[in-house]
Amino acid sequence: MIIQSEKISLKHLLTVEALSDQEVMGLIKRGQQFKNGAQWSPEKPQYFAANLFFENSTRTHKSFEVAEKKMGLDVIDFDSRTSSVQKGETLYDTVLTMSAIGVDVCVIRHGDENYYDELIQSRTVHCSIINGGDGSGQHPTQCLLDLMTIYEEFGYFEGLKVAIVGDITHSRVAKSNMQMLNRLRSEVYFSGPEQWYDKSFDVYGEYRPLDELVEMVDVVMLLRVQHERHDGNESFSKEGYHQEYGLTIERAKRMKEKAIIMHPAPVNRDVEIADSLVESYQSRIVEQMSNGVFVRMAILEAILNGVA
Ligand code: CP
Repeated sequence: MIIQSEKISLKHLLTVEALSDQEVMGLIKRGQQFKNGAQWSPEKPQYFAANLFFENSTRTHKSFEVAEKKMGLDVIDFDSRTSSVQKGETLYDTVLTMSAIGVDVCVIRHGDENYYDELIQSRTVHCSIINGGDGSGQHPTQCLLDLMTIYEEFGYFEGLKVAIVGDITHSRVAKSNMQMLNRLRSEVYFSGPEQWYDKSFDVYGEYRPLDELVEMVDVVMLLRVQHERHDGNESFSKEGYHQEYGLTIERAKRMKEKAIIMHPAPVNRDVEIADSLVESYQSRIVEQMSNGVFVRMAILEAILNGVA
């Protein structure tokens, strides 16, 4: 990845770790400019984008589509259920085809961690790849929209106390966010069921009971319970999880006055968070979804007006 003076130039966006602090801040600030009405100046008259989603998505898929359409890109319709994936075509061959027919950028969500390795090593796949989520690996565009939302609220990262709460082991959002928030010198804390916490997270922050954290942190970042990645041996009832690990109305009352609530969504209402808190005055969950469009415009611009 190259920075040419002020311009951020990316070939791919696969993980947040691969971005420099300067690139992260540049993308956030460009996202804010797009939110305030800035337009981009495409270097070519026509660009093609394909959104290849092999796992379900509402926000990532549709906010990329809105971002692409706001930027005037030609968006290629793709549905794995009606494509040659059903005839056994591999991800590699699907992306090779997109590249061969002239698609400039593929946004891909796939269940396999690091699915992108063979694509970026290929000598015949030329299109750029944006990782829209790889299994339980990384979710870099969600991380950037979360950072934009936090920056919009506080204007800085250093010293901010952020609690990441819930199903951390299975969450690609949590992994991207813990890495980047730690690097930006926020104080990261973790909470949630210990069976969904891994000692490897200790390098990024400290595990503490939620009842301690709600009173001391600036950001309570809740995670969805990812039933689809569980082996069926989890013993929580919805109400049991909510009372023990969720943001209940009683816990929310103990939050600092200026603290905010975040959740990447989709939300299991009354599980990770009380229903009435989702759209409460301290919640930034709706802003996260809106900011997703603008930060994704910044990412697309950095790729399309960037390296060949
Ligand atoms: N936050 C997020 O990635 O949502 P979707 O799964 O709906 O894209």
